Amino acid sequence: MQILFNRPRRNRKSGAIRDLLAENHITTNDLIMPLFFTKGSKTKTEIGSMPGQFRYSIDLLVDKVRELEDLGIKAVSLFPCIEESLKTLDAKEAYNPDGINQLAIKEVKKACPNVLIMTDVALDPYNSAGHDGIVDQETGEIINDETLEVLAKMALVQAEAGSDIIGPSDMMDGRVGVIRKALEKGGYKNTLIMAYTAKYASAYYGPFRDALDSAPKAGDKKTYQMNPANSIEALRELALDEIESADIVMVKPALAYLDVISKLKENTTLPVAAYNVSGEYAMIKAASSLGYIDEKAIVEETLVGFKRAGADIILSYFSEQMAKYLKSS
Ligand code: PBG
Repeated sequence: MQILFNRPRRNRKSGAIRDLLAENHITTNDLIMPLFFTKGSKTKTEIGSMPGQFRYSIDLLVDKVRELEDLGIKAVSLFPCIEESLKTLDAKEAYNPDGINQLAIKEVKKACPNVLIMTDVALDPYNSAGHDGIVDQETGEIINDETLEVLAKMALVQAEAGSDIIGPSDMMDGRVGVIRKALEKGGYKNTLIMAYTAKYASAYYGPFRDALDSAPKAGDKKTYQMNPANSIEALRELALDEIESADIVMVKPALAYLDVISKLKENTTLPVAAYNVSGEYAMIKAASSLGYIDEKAIVEETLVGFKRAGADIILSYFSEQMAKYLKSS
């Protein structure tokens, strides 16, 4: 007969004790749902590489946000799919006050004034070159400082339209500071900036680029997005975003970068967000459609893993599904 004093299994002996001792929880308070939209009305098109995710016309986008609000989701992140004829090398549609992005912000705000709207600041959906910054046509370089001026104008029209949270995802140097200055000068003192602080040059963005038709026409994003081999560099980006006055910092993608989420959490007093990106969504959907995994269990385990790593906020295409799981449990 064994006499063991320490039996950690006592603390796992039933569902009730496991729930009592759970260190991390997912609630709808933590979730942001990214949504794609485009022009037109009464249409939604499923994204081939993201089953269950759609490009909505703005009227159906508004209906979707209402549904999400009923499920307890308090924030959405909006991504426009811009028609090819409006894409130019100077990406000027990005700061058109009457462009579909601004229209969508206004419509969603009008229908659901209590839902937080986050909007993306980067030129790729508007740039005929498909890059997040302006491309020098002679050298192919993505030019930082010229891009900053466009990003500032873009952030300003979004704030004017009613965006609550500006999400610079472009990875140009100095953009958080330039955007903050533009917002302060424009009178938008209460508009938050959620900086894509540690955004990696990742193959996990593939399905997102399908959704928006926004893949670079030439080259890749490695001169501005971070090298997946690095994590100390994320602390340098964090320090700069703090100095430049970000309100929330983000790590993206999430699953292959849990260490980076932890590192940021340990090194900042700002809230930390994790972006569970399109390719991470696609992998789970694909494996589950083949019957290889239990989708609900995998989604719950994945999302709580981000919390455990240190994320305060999760952007995930599974947000709606998770909210439904929570409601039915
Ligand atoms: C635009 C942007 C991207 C994502 C969010 N904003 C794509 C990219 O940088 O190429 C990716 C999101 C996802 O994959 O879910 N700069």
